[in-house]
Amino acid sequence: MSSFVCAEEMQKQNEYIAKINLLIGGKSKRAFVYTLGCQQNEADSEKLAGMLCKMGYTMTENEKEADILLVNTCAIREHAEKRALSIIGRFKHYKVQNPDIIIGVCGCMSAQEHRMNHLKHSYHYVDFTFGTGDLHRLPELVYNALNNGKRSFNLDSEKPLIAEGIEPLRASNFRAWVSIMYGCNNFCTYCIVPYVRGRERSRKMEDILAEVKDLVSRGYKDITLLGQNVNSYGKDLESKTSIADLLSQIAKIEGDFWIHLMTSHPRDASIEMINEIKKSPRTNGHFHLPLQSGSDVILKRMNRHYDLEKYLGIIKELRKENENITLTTDIIVGFPGESDEDFERTIEVIKKVKYDSVFSFIYSPRKGTPAATMENQIPSEIQHQRYERFCQVQNDISKEINEALIGKVVRVLVDGKSKNDDNMYTSRTQGNKIVHFESKKDLTGTFTNVKITRADTFNLFGEII
Ligand code: SAH
Ligand code: SF4
Ligand code: F3S
Repeated sequence: MSSFVCAEEMQKQNEYIAKINLLIGGKSKRAFVYTLGCQQNEADSEKLAGMLCKMGYTMTENEKEADILLVNTCAIREHAEKRALSIIGRFKHYKVQNPDIIIGVCGCMSAQEHRMNHLKHSYHYVDFTFGTGDLHRLPELVYNALNNGKRSFNLDSEKPLIAEGIEPLRASNFRAWVSIMYGCNNFCTYCIVPYVRGRERSRKMEDILAEVKDLVSRGYKDITLLGQNVNSYGKDLESKTSIADLLSQIAKIEGDFWIHLMTSHPRDASIEMINEIKKSPRTNGHFHLPLQSGSDVILKRMNRHYDLEKYLGIIKELRKENENITLTTDIIVGFPGESDEDFERTIEVIKKVKYDSVFSFIYSPRKGTPAATMENQIPSEIQHQRYERFCQVQNDISKEINEALIGKVVRVLVDGKSKNDDNMYTSRTQGNKIVHFESKKDLTGTFTNVKITRADTFNLFGEII
């Protein structure tokens, strides 16, 4: 069975777009999309914005003036869900003032049955919800809301498909997301993603290459290839291909640009992929390899399918004759059953590997995942103590690594002016380190070289050379 939404369905959605244009065209209607969660959601929101513009809406950054409001939600931790619910709660006020406003909720939180029902029954002003696999159906949902006002709440089909051909409205004109695959098969015991984003499905290599080529030809300089587990890219395709093949094809595209991978799973990190990464300066600046825990006992309970030895082997390969690569990771603190010793293992590993930076999270039980009902849930107080200690250790490491860059010249891509100072610019290295520098000239969206003069835990400061 094909993994793609069929042409007829996409055509049907285009017809809805045309009908909406007739309904709202020329009436200067505005749309607002609030995005929570990871880069996948950022990428999805750019597609939502792309579709809304085609319907005839103008995007606004001001929710108060919007005629349609969408909240693209995340479910990864309780905090993300609470934030989504509070934002949706805030939107009620707009609907009370103007009943014609349309409010929709999408993304990972709304793809869960209990959340969908909660939104349906307790948030009467929400017009529709849809899951990540139904993104392409936005035109139909908006049309129905405009036309008959009937509320609509649906869960994704069992097997969500890939919708090609939705043109995103990209937030940046020099950094871009390119999804290379969707969904996840891994079922790490703590994680909600496989339940809300379905099984792994890869885009065709030619579609990805065409998108990357087009971006490069339009001047994009930093392209992130997205997937929950990009290392298993291609395994589900008929023409068996791999992330290493994809990277080697991208390497043939001419131009000056960086490529990031987000995210790699250590379980499937092949030597071929590591070699491809190291072969090209475009890819060899940064690697993010989530560890989650430094204890083999916990890794097993997390269903991660690697042990510390395998993980450290990958790091060793990445760093072999390549010590300048920026390494980052994800860590979960306070997973059920994590003993003081298990936690100390994690501390030992981060001291040993010396990551440039770590995204660390306190374990948050997710309804429907195996870990949520495991015995030995760690009391919040202990989780917080461990988390504080973890951050202290890692912050010292990050600072030490950053300070070692003083006097060195780094290449950065300039994001734009700093918020508080008109002469200061903010930029990032290939490894996503933030670098501030002074410039009279607007260098936004260009590469430049900066000599580092000062460093702290999260920032580098330098002079343009
Ligand atoms: N697919 C990516 C992870 C996406 S989620 C991967 O496997 O690496 C990003 C990070 O959120 C995870 O790496 C994990 O560290 C964290 N995370 C996921 N579920 C969590 C939970 N229930 N509680 C706390 N952190 C969680
Ligand atoms: Fe979640 Fe694990 Fe899949 Fe990452 S690999 S999305 S952590 S289930
Ligand atoms: Fe959140 Fe969904 Fe991403 S749960 S982290 S938005 S895949």
